Amino acid sequence: MHTLRRTVRLVVNPAATTPTPPNETRGRNGYAGKPAMTGLGAFYELEVACRGEPDAATGYLIDIKVIDNAARGVVAPRIEAGARTGGDPAAILAGAMGPLAAALRPVELDSARLRLSPYYAVEMSTDNGQRVLIRQRFDFAAAHRLHVETLSDDENRRLFGKCNNPSGHGHNYQIEPCVECDPADPIDLAQLEAIVEEVVIERFDHKHLNIDTDEFNTEKGGVNPSVENIARVSHELLSGPVASAGARLVSTTVWETDRTAATYAPRP
Ligand code: NI
Repeated sequence: MHTLRRTVRLVVNPAATTPTPPNETRGRNGYAGKPAMTGLGAFYELEVACRGEPDAATGYLIDIKVIDNAARGVVAPRIEAGARTGGDPAAILAGAMGPLAAALRPVELDSARLRLSPYYAVEMSTDNGQRVLIRQRFDFAAAHRLHVETLSDDENRRLFGKCNNPSGHGHNYQIEPCVECDPADPIDLAQLEAIVEEVVIERFDHKHLNIDTDEFNTEKGGVNPSVENIARVSHELLSGPVASAGARLVSTTVWETDRTAATYAPRP
């Protein structure tokens, strides 16, 4: 089976005096988002994933124009209406999934992810019933040293290289929890921010992880602060508070650089 993903960039002009007509022709630059922005318009990305077998002759799973038309014809008007009336993105996406799936048939919709900013997205998957996934990215700066006490200094240097530097070294980390909730009762984004800030950011930001935190101080039973371990430890710290807020923490991704990331999700 194949999955095809297409990102459709949508511009919503909620201050326009009339809703965007279905046959809007203003806007020729789908790369930057259509229709053309008027004044202080809003920009969204909708990533649509379809799945199935490509056609034997064309090699196409689906014509991407069908996805673009479905996104612009079915989802964009709902976002525009929601922007005018203060709608909730999770509820809007939940309401759009059925009509979007219908507009793509006979090809099967796999999932749709609405990016409200480069750092914040809501997603629904057809395999996940009426649940919505909410992701937001945070950053923190920290120092760490990768070192295993049971190995010799030579072995540590061979294994960890520069990352074994005795004084440590720094990274600008990014962390993104993925939280599942009921779209009729989604977690408040400000509440999610407060949890991540209090539980992870305040604990790790501008700290030397091996020295300043129990979680990564081996003298206090901590683990080596690899990006894999930072993702797992962060997930375990966040899981309870997210549950107390009425949602479920599905996974936690930590980027150590823009090229290296680890995602932790407990086995179901
Ligand atoms: Ni490092």
